[in-house]
Amino acid sequence: MQNGLECSTSQFIYSKLRFSKFFLFVLDKMLSRFLARNVNLSLQRRFYTSLPYTKVHVPVMLSEVLHYLQPQEGGIYCDLTFGDGGYTKAILDQCNCKVVAVDQDPTAYEKALKLSQLKQYKNRLFPVLGRFGSIYDYCLTHFDEQIPCFDGMVMDIGVSSGQLETPERGFSYKLDGPLDMRMFSRGRDNSEAPVHENEAELLKKSISAYEIANYFSREEIADIIYQYGGDRLSRKIATAIVDARQSGPIETTSALAAVIHKACPQPRWQRGHDDMLRNSAARTFQAFRIHINNELGELKNALTAT
Ligand SMILES: C[S@@+](CC[C@H](N)C(=O)[O-])C[C@H]1O[C@@H](n2cnc3c(N)ncnc32)[C@H](O)[C@@H]1O
Repeated sequence: MQNGLECSTSQFIYSKLRFSKFFLFVLDKMLSRFLARNVNLSLQRRFYTSLPYTKVHVPVMLSEVLHYLQPQEGGIYCDLTFGDGGYTKAILDQCNCKVVAVDQDPTAYEKALKLSQLKQYKNRLFPVLGRFGSIYDYCLTHFDEQIPCFDGMVMDIGVSSGQLETPERGFSYKLDGPLDMRMFSRGRDNSEAPVHENEAELLKKSISAYEIANYFSREEIADIIYQYGGDRLSRKIATAIVDARQSGPIETTSALAAVIHKACPQPRWQRGHDDMLRNSAARTFQAFRIHINNELGELKNALTAT
């Protein structure tokens, strides 16, 4: 009995210990997830509280950028990809310097204008609507010709979270929207939005993802997907797109993503992964976006100009 009791007591304690260990393990996991999410969020919130808008891009290399840029009092810096203003704001907050903030997206430009009205950034932030490939011309036309040289420049190339998460812009294969992807436009269906004079002109001259999906040849589409998306299945995807449009135009991001997923289904164990390595739709959308916005050409022009 004694033995039995001892045995069952130690068993009980052991099982309790095991339970507590398991409980602590679960608690630890929950706590670390909670901290990762909420501490990040609260830091982000603190960082962005003074921005005059809500949906923001979180710049991931902020500390590195500040470390290498080392903004100085009286310096003039250029943020070639303003986006949501994360870098610009951080530079301006470092010391009493100035920032010329370029972005081709009219939404980003409007955000920059609003930011420049805030008391602490008055006469320190100079928004420019345009492509960074033309930065040299902007310096000549917008600013004193004597100072085409900045004390430092930053570029955070690619697409912003705001662009990706706005379905009407047509950048995301996960959100349903029109096939657009032009960075300088607010989206082809957004007729309510005020159109900047340049925007209307550029819209006439440009192509969107709709044109690529519905009018480009099989070879052209395959080349774009291979060149800018690096997808080995580029020909298969291009064939699927060309076949699909025989029964009517491919109008939306979801329709295009469905065609790609059908042609190149992800293996069962990789479903749900949306990174570039494992998802053909992600690669195709990236490729279309790079082509439409001439992203590599722009980069080359900007690097040559600086
Ligand atoms: C990754 S986001 C930048 C985010 C920004 N660093 C921030 O902290 O919010 C890239 C931005 O660059 C802009 N962009 C991309 N290509 C451009 C170009 N050729 N000329 C001007 N802006 C461009 C996009 O419109 C987008 O707003």
